[in-house]
Amino acid sequence: MNDSSMLSDELHEYWSGIANTFQWRKKWDSLQTGNFDECNVQWFNGARLNITENCLDRHLEKRRHKKALIFEPNNPNEAAIFYTYGELHLSVCRFANLLKSKGVKKGDVVCFYMGMTPELMIGILACARIGAIHTVVFGGFSPQSLRGRLEDSNAKIIITHDGGYRGDKVTPLKSMVDEAIENLSFVETVLVVKRTHTEIQMKQGRDYFYDVLIKECELFCPAVEVEAEDPLFILYTSGSTGKPKGLVHTTAGYMVHVGNSFKDVFQIKENDIFWCTADIGWITGHSYLTYGPLLNGSTTVMFEGVPNYPTPARFWEVIEKHKVTHLYTAPTAIRSLEKFGSDIPESFSMKSLKVLGSVGEPINEEAWQWYHKYVGKERCPIVDTWWQTETGGIMISPIAGVTKLKPAHATLPLIGIVPVLVDEKGREENAMVASGNLCIKYPWPSLARTIYGDHERFKLTYFSTYKGLYFTGDGARRDEDGFYRITGRVDDVINVSGHRIGTAEVEEAINEHLLITESAVVGFPHEIKGQGIYAFVTCNDDLILPEVLIKEIRATVEKVIGPIAKPDVIQIVHSLPKTRSGKIMRRILRKIVENDLGNIGDTSTLLNPECVEDIIKGKKS
Ligand code: WT7
Repeated sequence: MNDSSMLSDELHEYWSGIANTFQWRKKWDSLQTGNFDECNVQWFNGARLNITENCLDRHLEKRRHKKALIFEPNNPNEAAIFYTYGELHLSVCRFANLLKSKGVKKGDVVCFYMGMTPELMIGILACARIGAIHTVVFGGFSPQSLRGRLEDSNAKIIITHDGGYRGDKVTPLKSMVDEAIENLSFVETVLVVKRTHTEIQMKQGRDYFYDVLIKECELFCPAVEVEAEDPLFILYTSGSTGKPKGLVHTTAGYMVHVGNSFKDVFQIKENDIFWCTADIGWITGHSYLTYGPLLNGSTTVMFEGVPNYPTPARFWEVIEKHKVTHLYTAPTAIRSLEKFGSDIPESFSMKSLKVLGSVGEPINEEAWQWYHKYVGKERCPIVDTWWQTETGGIMISPIAGVTKLKPAHATLPLIGIVPVLVDEKGREENAMVASGNLCIKYPWPSLARTIYGDHERFKLTYFSTYKGLYFTGDGARRDEDGFYRITGRVDDVINVSGHRIGTAEVEEAINEHLLITESAVVGFPHEIKGQGIYAFVTCNDDLILPEVLIKEIRATVEKVIGPIAKPDVIQIVHSLPKTRSGKIMRRILRKIVENDLGNIGDTSTLLNPECVEDIIKGKKS
């Protein structure tokens, strides 16, 4: 074993056993090297492979005619589209040849800003086929956010749709790309997949239609052999400070844990139909809509629409239509459907369902019970899977049908994963029943390796808070069974509808409004979204009507970040509570919005204690 490895013999043996179930061009020289302290963890060094050979080619002999992908369009009257493994392989090869014809090479970054259609999945696999690095930007982000991610990743090529469907809305994606890349000279190519036939402008020599070019592409593209630690993708996510971080996942480690965790957690059988409702713009859509199912030769369902369009029965109809066996969705979707009443799911038998999954945010007990009773008809286990963009794959979760069910608990770590709870000082809580900050003690293969272009920030964010540990940013409790219950973020990140939003980012966006002097953003308990966004602002102009200002602030945030980050509540205040050194006391604001006035604590040492009373009086429910 390599000297710098942090792994015990047991963990070493476990992970090499799992890795041996995949297909390698050449196996590794060392299983794991590096450690958290030096922030240099690597896995499978010396190995060579191509992940698409594992997702596609490997299955062709046995599963060429098996459905790989079922595409369910936004509009239920439009026909579903099916791809067998043979067809998906062919489509990926052709798309890869198209990318090559546009000069994309191994190591280049390719950006996707698209709606949820098969071309998005095919496109990212095409990148992996030729060793290019995909970076998917969720289509709900604004042009300005897209621009920031392009500037950070230096993607020379963008793939988009003319427009994207989501419920009754059409998002003009191509025009948004035009806006995002104005005067960005490094962007050489924009490929447009037609979907909504929205009117668009095409810039000669830069913009091309996918359907025209793909016709010229050959049907086979050899898989490019890459090193284990070559990057597979960059995915941006919000942190507690600064701009979004481009987390980099590398090929072999990501493949090994994502492929294996999918099989284990969901207990997938050969003829199962797996539906993950996440957008590919998020890590869940990468790991458990795309790579996890395909690595296992499973059938994956991709849905273009939203839960309540055209009616709140849409999910249940899709389940019956495609005989879905596994539904993997977010608590926010469950709560939003719960609102329409249990008689809707009750009128569907959904007898194909075997396992239900939850992801993205803590699931409250009520939503868990509703999901279990009305969707799972009390026969389907719920797997409440805890993980993060950084962890690549599921870390803490029940094993379907094996682990005892306990509502609202992510329960136990997967084999190979060693979580610990630490107190403020980083001391490990050794007692079984404990609470604290959730850390991971040993490396696992699908840990992100760095923040693109900023390794120092990576080290600082995850490995500097507690020596020798990976810090998740979450708090958790452990009960007498050793079951974990995730209680939520302990940093300045809020979780809105399962989407992670940095409060600092929202504040920066708000501050772009000319009349705003200062702002402070905190999360508050929200019935449907889990957490909502509450913004306190001070304004340097008395002449504007509060309701006009509030509308403008919301529009500013939408423009800078996107609709998902629009504050739910905006309160205009005279001043924000500050320490004598001028630091905004967000803790006090958090207590106020949580209605936890008893725990505000001592405010007498503030620079401006009188403002607290004012803020409480003006609070919006
Ligand atoms: C944060 C990660 C995991 C993919 C989707 C979100 C929260 C995630 C759970 C869960 C309680 C959860 C955590 C985590 N979270 N799953 N089952 N129970 N909280 O990925 O955007 O990287 O967000 O989501 O707070 O840190 P992400």
